[in-house]
Amino acid sequence: MRKAIALFFVLFLLATGRSFSQGPSAMMPAIIEKDGRHALLVDGKPFLILGGQAHNSSAWPGMLPQLWSAIGELHANTLEVPIYWEQVEASPGKFDFSLIDTLLVQARQHKVRLVLLWFATWKNGSNHYMPEWMKRDAAKYPNITGSKGQPVDSPSPNTEAAAEADTKAFAAVMRYLKRADPKHTVIMVQVENEPGAWDSVRDYSAPAQKLFEGQVPAELLKPGVLKALNVPAVTGGSWQKVFGNNADEYFQAWSVARFIGQVAAAGKAEYPLPLYVNAALRDPLTNPSATTYESGGPTDNVIPIWKAAAPAVDLVAPDIYLSGSERILKVIDLYDRPDNALFVPEAGLSPERAKYLYTVIARGGIGFSPFGVDDNGRGATKTEIAERLAPFAQDYRMAAPMMRELAKWGFEGKIRAVVEREDHAGQTIDLGAWQAVISFGTGARNTDQVNAQSTGKAMIVQLDENTFILIGALCHFTFRPAGKNAGRAWQYLKVEEGQYENGAFKLLRILNGDETDWGGPRLGAAPTVLRATLIVR
Ligand code: DGJ
Repeated sequence: MRKAIALFFVLFLLATGRSFSQGPSAMMPAIIEKDGRHALLVDGKPFLILGGQAHNSSAWPGMLPQLWSAIGELHANTLEVPIYWEQVEASPGKFDFSLIDTLLVQARQHKVRLVLLWFATWKNGSNHYMPEWMKRDAAKYPNITGSKGQPVDSPSPNTEAAAEADTKAFAAVMRYLKRADPKHTVIMVQVENEPGAWDSVRDYSAPAQKLFEGQVPAELLKPGVLKALNVPAVTGGSWQKVFGNNADEYFQAWSVARFIGQVAAAGKAEYPLPLYVNAALRDPLTNPSATTYESGGPTDNVIPIWKAAAPAVDLVAPDIYLSGSERILKVIDLYDRPDNALFVPEAGLSPERAKYLYTVIARGGIGFSPFGVDDNGRGATKTEIAERLAPFAQDYRMAAPMMRELAKWGFEGKIRAVVEREDHAGQTIDLGAWQAVISFGTGARNTDQVNAQSTGKAMIVQLDENTFILIGALCHFTFRPAGKNAGRAWQYLKVEEGQYENGAFKLLRILNGDETDWGGPRLGAAPTVLRATLIVR
C-alpha cells in the first residue's frame, strides 16, 4: 500500500513537474515499481546511486578522512559503508551508535548519501563480525556442521539464538537511525553481507537434520514458487521428496533467507528504509553444483526462495567480480526482474567493469558501486589513488550532474545501452524511425584503433522521435533511417556537446565538420554527453 501511494505521488510529480509542498526531507526513501521497472525515490524523486564501497575495515573514525577523499576523487554521490555488530553491541544489550553518528555528520558535510552495510551474523559466509560474547559461546551460537561431521566456518541458520540476537540488534540500529537521521542521509541498508556457506551446502548437525527431514513450508509450495523453481506442483512432502537433487541447497537458502527475513522485518518495523541482501554469485551460464559457490545466499537459481522467505527484503543484489561480458550481462539480466530492482552494490574495481554502469542505468537500475575505493591505509599517493579510480570517476563526473534525469529516464524506459564485448564488434540499437550503429575504437576519423581493453560504451536516451542524448566513450555513433524513414536520405540537423545542469542541457559547443562528418561523432576516453537531432530529407 505504501509503495502504491508513493508510486501514485511520483507519477503525479513526474507528470506535473511539481515538488512536494511539505519539503523534500520529509520524504522517506522508497523503491517503486511500474511496468516491471523500478526507481529509488530519495527526497521524493528518482535517484541514481553513483556509489563507492569502503574496504571492510575502513569505517573507523581515524580511517574516515582517506575514505572521504576517495569518495571525492570518485565523484560518488553515495558511500556504502559497513557498521559492525562487534562494535555496535560489544556487550550484550549495550549499544554504541557513535559510529553511526560520526558517519551521519561527515556524510552531510561531504553532501554524500549513505548506504549502511550491517556486518552481522554473516560476512562473506562467516560469523566473523559477531560480537566476542557470541563467538565465545559456540554452543549457543553454533556454526554449521558439514556432511562428514567436520566444522565449517559459517554460522548455522538453523538455530534460534543467533537469529534472536541479530534481530534485536538490527532493530535497535534502525530505531536509532530513525531518530538520528530525519534528513534521510541514509537511503538504504544492506542486511548482512554475502550470506550463505562456503565449504558445505547446508548444516548437517542433528537439529538441522531434523528440520531437513520435516515438511517443506507452505510458502514454498505455492504453485508460482514451484513453477519458478521448475518443480512440478505438489501439495506437500519432505525437502528431499519435493526438491530431489536440489534439496540440500534449497533447504539452506530457505533457512538463511528466513533468518535474514526475520532480522529485516524487525528493522523495517522500526524504520521502513529500503533493505537489500547482496549475493556472492555463481557462474550464471553453467548451472554449477552448489558445492562450488556460497550456498544459501541469493544466487540467481534461488531468488524465488528468497522472495518467498524474506518479503521484508526489498531486493537481492549481485556483487559483480566475475569477468567476461556474456557472464556479466547475464547476471544483470537475472537480477533485473519485475519483483527485484536492479542494484549492483559491489563490482570489482577494474577498468573493464566500469562500463556496466551504462547497462544498469539503461535497465532502470537504482545504482552501481565499485568495491574498495579507499586506500585502505596503504599510503598510496594522490596520483596513484586517482589513477586507480579514474575509469569509474570519469563516468561519475559525467553522470553526477544529471543523475536525477538518468534515474527518471531509466524508470521510464527511455534509455538503451551497449557495452563493448571482447570481440570489439559494433552493435546496433533500434529506435523506431532510426537505427543507431555503434562501433568501438580509440582513433580519430579513418584511423580507428581497436580499444586495448574492451572498455567502450554507449548509451542513448530517446527524447522524442528524432532527438537523442548520446553518452559514451571510446566509440563512434552513426545512424540509419529505419521504419517509416527506411531508404530516405538523412543528416544531422544539429549535434550539441554539453552537460545537464539543474535539469537543463547546457551547451559547450556545436559539433560539426570533422567532428560529425563520416557518419557521426567519435568519442574519446572521457565520457561525453551530446544532444543530437536528426532529419530525413
Ligand atoms: C565481497 C564482499 O562482499 C566484500 O565485503 C569484500 O570482502 C570483497 N568481496 C573482497 O573482494
